[in-house]
Amino acid sequence: MKSERLDKTVAFILQGGRKEAVKLIKSGEIAVGGNVIKDPAAKINPHKDRITLSGKEICYKEKIYIMMNKPLGVVSSTDDGGVTVIDILPEEFLRRGLFPAGRLDKDTTGFVLITDDGDFAHRMLSPKSHVDKEYEVFLAEPLEEGAEKKFSDGLTLGDGYQCLPAETECIDGGKRIKFKVILREGKYHQIKRMFAACGNRVAALHRTAIGGVHLDSSLKAGECRELTAEELGRITGGE
Ligand code: URA
Repeated sequence: MKSERLDKTVAFILQGGRKEAVKLIKSGEIAVGGNVIKDPAAKINPHKDRITLSGKEICYKEKIYIMMNKPLGVVSSTDDGGVTVIDILPEEFLRRGLFPAGRLDKDTTGFVLITDDGDFAHRMLSPKSHVDKEYEVFLAEPLEEGAEKKFSDGLTLGDGYQCLPAETECIDGGKRIKFKVILREGKYHQIKRMFAACGNRVAALHRTAIGGVHLDSSLKAGECRELTAEELGRITGGE
């Protein structure tokens, strides 16, 4: 990789304009290898030099993949209205043209992937994608005996849609109110409609894993972090 102008690199990383980058550089917010550099034309190596903004590392990456623990009441679609998962991203991600690669209902919490990789998001959102999605489901009433067989055979929803086989496991020691469910597809309100087809109602829903990668238990509601390369590999390997 040839050397690059500092202002161009900062603008690229932050997905902002060159003018904004120049302003940040001249105000002494940007350091390269620990040294503040105020010359926008300074040459650096974007792949090797450690660049920081207000002391926090900002990385030169082609694409970024974020795991968020979506809080209740926040929408995961950018065109649904209301506060979105993008609105609550930390400042360092704000200007990267990010969008959610998958949907959760406003009243569902848990693992949402956010990226600026259009191809990846498209593949994740495609009906042909069979990446496993794992949920914790809290029911309004105990689940009827034998319902697990309906899930593993492939439930038929109220509108006649025939679901792919899904795994269920009771995780409250037999009270039959709390279940782990693994789906290999993602239709609109699918979990809620599956339990409705068994005459029950979902009281709360939390997504715990995507493609075998578990939501980091250290992330509180609304917090996020980048996926590791290994986690990303596992998710894309399962498509
Ligand atoms: N199924 C639902 O019903 N809602 C979600 O948010 C995700 C899966």
